[in-house]
Amino acid sequence: MDDLPRRLAGFVGAGAVLTAPADLAPYLLDHRRLYQGSAAAVVLPETTAQVSQILSFCNAARIPVVPQGGNTGYVGGATPLDAGSIVLAFGRMNRIRAVDAANFALVAEAGCTLAAVQQAALQVDRLFPLSLGSEGTCQIGGNLATNAGGTAVLRYGMMRELAFGVEAVLADGSVLSQLAPLRKDNTGYDLAQLLIGSEGTLGVITAACLKLFARPRTTATAWVAIPAPAAALELLARLRTASDDQLSTLELVPDAALRLVLQHVAAARDPAVTASPWYLLVELASAADRDLDALLTACLADAAAAGLVTDAAIAASAAQREEFWRLRESVPEAQRRAGGSLKHDISVPVTSLPQLIEQGTELVARLAPEGILVAYGHAGDGNLHFNVNQRAGTDALAFAAREAPLRRAVHDLVARFGGSFSAEHGIGRLKVEELRRYAQPAGLAAMHRIKQALDPHGILNPGKLL
Ligand code: FAD
Ligand code: MLT
Ligand code: ZN
Repeated sequence: MDDLPRRLAGFVGAGAVLTAPADLAPYLLDHRRLYQGSAAAVVLPETTAQVSQILSFCNAARIPVVPQGGNTGYVGGATPLDAGSIVLAFGRMNRIRAVDAANFALVAEAGCTLAAVQQAALQVDRLFPLSLGSEGTCQIGGNLATNAGGTAVLRYGMMRELAFGVEAVLADGSVLSQLAPLRKDNTGYDLAQLLIGSEGTLGVITAACLKLFARPRTTATAWVAIPAPAAALELLARLRTASDDQLSTLELVPDAALRLVLQHVAAARDPAVTASPWYLLVELASAADRDLDALLTACLADAAAAGLVTDAAIAASAAQREEFWRLRESVPEAQRRAGGSLKHDISVPVTSLPQLIEQGTELVARLAPEGILVAYGHAGDGNLHFNVNQRAGTDALAFAAREAPLRRAVHDLVARFGGSFSAEHGIGRLKVEELRRYAQPAGLAAMHRIKQALDPHGILNPGKLL
């Protein structure tokens, strides 16, 4: 459509429609540089009414629309694949519409960064607990669309558990608004929950009413050396019980990951804990004035006596706490700097983690001998980033050729444990074939029928998820 930019400018103003190649470029390449897309224009709406007009127009004209937030996703979900499509980018829809401390709620527009929402909550002495390494850049709309996870899921849940409801525009331009902080609302199908995690394929999220929590006043954070992954599970149960479920983080970091971080991240400091094949980052947090350091010390001492812990350091200051967190948060960056890595975002019931790691380690040794396993992440949720980095001095092409067979073997293994091949990063473009392969036929058929009902012309993020 030759006059597409002019038509779009009619809804948002000419300054909010980008068409020059240099302006489009950052929106066309995904964070992992797996997909180079193309699009006719990028549109930057400022209001829900504008989004509604744009979708109504695109639906009638059959123009594909790709919603994009901070473009930090790992599965190519926000990259436009069709040269005739438009990207709907939310950077200008970034108002916090309301902060309601009494109802422990906040209404944020889709383009607010996660960090901005966390800050807005802190200003009224509340916590918005979603926590991701990308929080300075990723946006609430993207967090909802991917049902993001991160490092506090153990205590607070994933993004879908953190939303009272959403405001969204459906493919035909109609607006759905559920922005009241209702803890109870059983009035028919839960459409907000259907849209959350739908990766921009069923509707465009323009705002959300988010759940806030009491702001922690005390935290206790430790870097813990453990002999084997099984110890992590036992420690998880002990810490949850002893702290009355105030454990917010239990992240597993293998020695291979710590070495990569210390080698590639200048700001990283050695935690000065006896070397071990595995470490945990654990954190307790309480809104009450409790001596969590004492509780954590006692719990770790008991665990050490039982052979579950070989050494540990409890953060003695805010600065040391930050250092421990940096070690964990820097793993993806260190992996990236170390070269290409084969990634698997998998989950199993937490009790199956040790067996999964044991059998997965054997698979990597057999199917990717040029690789080094860097399996780290959200062990408290049963979710590991079961990644494999190339070993120094090995052949890059040979390593790259391992990707497909290893992926099949790892995902088959996960399926045998009743697990998921996409725990928190979604399907996007990258895992469409995996969904076809591993989804239950009845579930997949229902997803197609839902897509057909809500987006009959297939304009919303085509080629993604299904
Ligand atoms: P984008 O990448 O822009 O989009 C993601 C998907 O959402 C696309 O399908 C897009 O079409 C859709 N979308 C975006 N906005 C909207 C909207 N308003 N309405 C409808 N659909 C929309 N993820 C985790 O879950 N846990 C982690 O611990 C984690 N850590 C990360 C650490 C780093 C360093 C990085 C770079 C990424 C990490 N991620 C993590 C992945 C990523 O940050 C999340 O998936 C995040 O939720 C994506 O948000 P975004 O705004 O960047 O979305
Ligand atoms: C993380 O937990 O660090 C991310 O989800 C995984 C990654 O960035 O590779
Ligand atoms: Zn993660």
